[in-house]
Formats: sequence, C-alpha cells, structure tokens
Amino acid sequence: MNHLPDNFLWGGAVSANQCEGAYDVGGKGLSIADIATAGGLGVKREYTDGVIKGKYYPSHQAIDFFHRYKEDIAMFAEMGLKCFRTSINWTRIFPLGDEAMPNEAGLRFYDDLFDECLKYGIEPVVTISHYETPFALVKKYGSWRSRNMIDLFLRFCEAIFNRYKEKVKYWMTFNEINVITLNPIMAAGIKIEEGEDFDRVIYHAAHHQLVASAKAVQLGHQINPDFKIGMMMLYPTFYAETCKPEDQLIAMKSIDKHYYFSDVQVRGRYSSKAIRYLANKGITLQTNPEDDKALEEGIVDYIGFSYYNSNVATTRPDAAFTGGNMLNAVKNPYLEESAWGWSIDPIGLRIALNNLYERYQIPLFVVENGLGAVDTVEEDGSIHDDYRIDYLRRHVKAIKAAVIEDGVECIGYTPWSCIDLVSASTGEMKKRYGFIYVDKDDDGKGSLARSRKDSFFWYKKCIETNGEEI
Ligand code: BG6
Repeated sequence: MNHLPDNFLWGGAVSANQCEGAYDVGGKGLSIADIATAGGLGVKREYTDGVIKGKYYPSHQAIDFFHRYKEDIAMFAEMGLKCFRTSINWTRIFPLGDEAMPNEAGLRFYDDLFDECLKYGIEPVVTISHYETPFALVKKYGSWRSRNMIDLFLRFCEAIFNRYKEKVKYWMTFNEINVITLNPIMAAGIKIEEGEDFDRVIYHAAHHQLVASAKAVQLGHQINPDFKIGMMMLYPTFYAETCKPEDQLIAMKSIDKHYYFSDVQVRGRYSSKAIRYLANKGITLQTNPEDDKALEEGIVDYIGFSYYNSNVATTRPDAAFTGGNMLNAVKNPYLEESAWGWSIDPIGLRIALNNLYERYQIPLFVVENGLGAVDTVEEDGSIHDDYRIDYLRRHVKAIKAAVIEDGVECIGYTPWSCIDLVSASTGEMKKRYGFIYVDKDDDGKGSLARSRKDSFFWYKKCIETNGEEI
C-alpha cells in the first residue's frame, strides 16, 4: 500500500463548550467551562464560584454554533469532511447532572445536529465528556472525587447511547483523560484545596473516571454492538535532552505518567509500574473487585489522541522552559515554535503513532492536531494562513509515513479545528485554529460572520485526493 486507506476518516474537531455558546438556552445547566473567565498567554483563566455579573465568560456565546450549525455544517460539507468530531454537552442533557430524566430540548438539539451531518454523509464522532463537568456536581459531590459520579456519568451515557444509537457509531469517553493530572479543574472540575495531597485526590478521581469509562464501553456495546468506543488521551511525545542515561530515564518516566491511563483503558488493568508509582507516593486506591472486573471487561476499541507539540525531558536544573499543550516543556533548539511557544514537530506525531501502535496494536485515530495562530483578514476579506497549511501539510505527511512506511493502523484525522473557536487553555479567540474564520475578538465583539481561509481550500483538496495532493 502506498497511500492511505480509501475509507480514511478525514474530518475536523471541536468541543461543544468551545463553540456552541447558548450556555443557558433550552434548559441547559452550567458546566465547569461556563464559569471560566478569559485568560491569555501567561494569564490563567479564573474558575469562579458560579457566574459572576460583570465578568466575561467566553463559552457563554462562544461562536454561537448552537444557532449557526446548519451554515457551519454546510461549509464542512463543502470542504468534503467525512466526519465531524464534537462533544455532547453533559449539562444540555442533564442540567444539574443528577436528574432522573434527561432534558428533551437538549436531546433534540443533538438529534438535529447529527441529522444535519448525516444529510451530507458526514459521520459524527462524539466525545462524551470534553471538559464539561456539570457545575452542580462539582458543588454537590466535589466532582470526580466522589464515586457517585460513576453512576451519574453512566446515566448520561445511557441516555445518549439509546437516543443516538442509529446516528452515531464512533464514541470516545473522556477527552484527554490524562489531563486530570495537569489541569484538574478544567479537565475534571476538581479544585485542589490548600493542604490537600494533590496526587491522592487526582489519582482517586482518575480511578473513578477509568471505571466510569470502562462501564460506559460495556454499556455502549450492549446497546449497540456496532459501536466503536475509544479512549482519548493527550499524547506528549518526549525526547531526552541528551544521551546521558539519566536524561533517557527521565524521558521514559515522563511518558509513563501518561501510559498510566492508556494501559488501563486498553489492557483492562493497572500496569505493575502504575501500582508501584502509586505505592511510592503512599497512595492505596480505594478499588474493589467490581471495579477490577469493569476495567477488565470495558476495554476500548480504538485510541483517539491529540498531538500538538513534542516535549524535552532533562535532568539539567537550569533548563529554560517554553510553552506546550498543558505541559511546560524544555525548549527544543531544533524546532520552531508557534506564537504561543508550542514546538512544531511533525516527526513527533510519527513517533507518537509508532509508540502507541507498537505498545497496543489497536487502531489509532488522530482526533486533534493543529496550529493556534493569529490570522489577518485582508481588505478583500481573504485570509492567507500559509503557516497553518504548512503545519498541517507536514503533519499529514507524518501520518502517511507512519501508515505507509511504518505499518501503523490509523483510521482517521480530525484537525483542531474545522472552525475558529474559544481556546481551552486561554479562553482567547485570537488563538485561531480553524479552516473557517469567525469574526469575533477577545472582548466578545464581532459579527460572528464566517469566511473561508486559504487553508479551507487546501484541506478540501487534501480530502478530495485522499492526502495525495497536499
Ligand atoms: C486540547 C483540548 O488539549 O487542545 C482542546 O482537547 C483544546 O479542547 C486544544 O482547545 C488546543 O488547546 P488551546 O488551549 O490552544 O485551545
């Protein structure tokens, strides 16, 4: 084979909270994303205790996809997308998270959205939980600290699996499940209080998520045996800074912290390394035979992962740090960086694909990859984002090399993002990822009008030729 498979899923990705807006429409409740203020490069987003008057919350309107999805999906169809990855905002379906019955208005919205995709032959790919923990559950149970979350999550899964079983085949349980260790408030609604043992809280909460994910996989397969249910992790390719054995060891240990999660979700149990890791931190997980059985029986069908940049591990105490998705990494002198300091490293994606496939031997799906950049609208309205085209072209080449030369099984590619949206880490609009420009700025001003960037036409051609003409 000297090309990508004919059924390769070319697509685009978003999350509900970063694009829908309409944060209180149709009975929707508050999610953790709805209480995050805007930040910026080096300015952290604040998570307020509910919505505070006078503060600006980017998710409240976002890009108003909720009201404009028909126009947007028509443009995705024009680009030729074969699939569209989004999440179902938990609080549209269960506004407080623990109601007995789902909210019909919320369910109807996603019915309409998926119908609109299917009308054009676009396959929906759904993340069940993408940084959208119900705020009411954060208040009531301390979020995923509590075991109660498992059943509440399953109630949500049952409602959506049953409702969309004829419309959605590809699912992922938790977006970037490993990010709970890096940004617990955003990823899982967990605020670590002063004096608390960070690791103890996080690894218990993660256990609850891992059990919830495994039970969801089993439930989904019972509801529709044709479902393909994946896990989703942030994959941070690590390089050792030098061939010094200590640097190699720290690089290995750095990635092990992330395999902690995928090992459970793919192999059905904690690795012996993970168990030692916890024991060395003095943590004994409150697990039980029922949990163990769930983990074993709820293994995933595929691995979805995000990849934006690679990282460098070193033992050198004076190393200079730079940015990166969720992790601050040591600067790599061989790589260029984005305006937000994230390294640009397509080979790192090829390595990620190889590492994951060698380790697990199940299909991979690159469900996020892209370049956050400031775009300029020319007087005639055109947007010449050749830097984004260059980034994507090199990453598509890396996927092709992994598949064609290295024999990796990769089922698709959904760049982040098919349309500009609110940045998760900073809340900015000016950190743009889309093929489609949205007229809105960081203060929330703009007409919300959509326009095609040069990358839109590039990606259309890429899909049309199955990645041959790039
Ligand atoms: C991923 C998240 O980690 O990175 C997305 O799953 C996020 O939600 C994306 O938007 C890009 O990061 P950022 O912070 O630039 O939006």
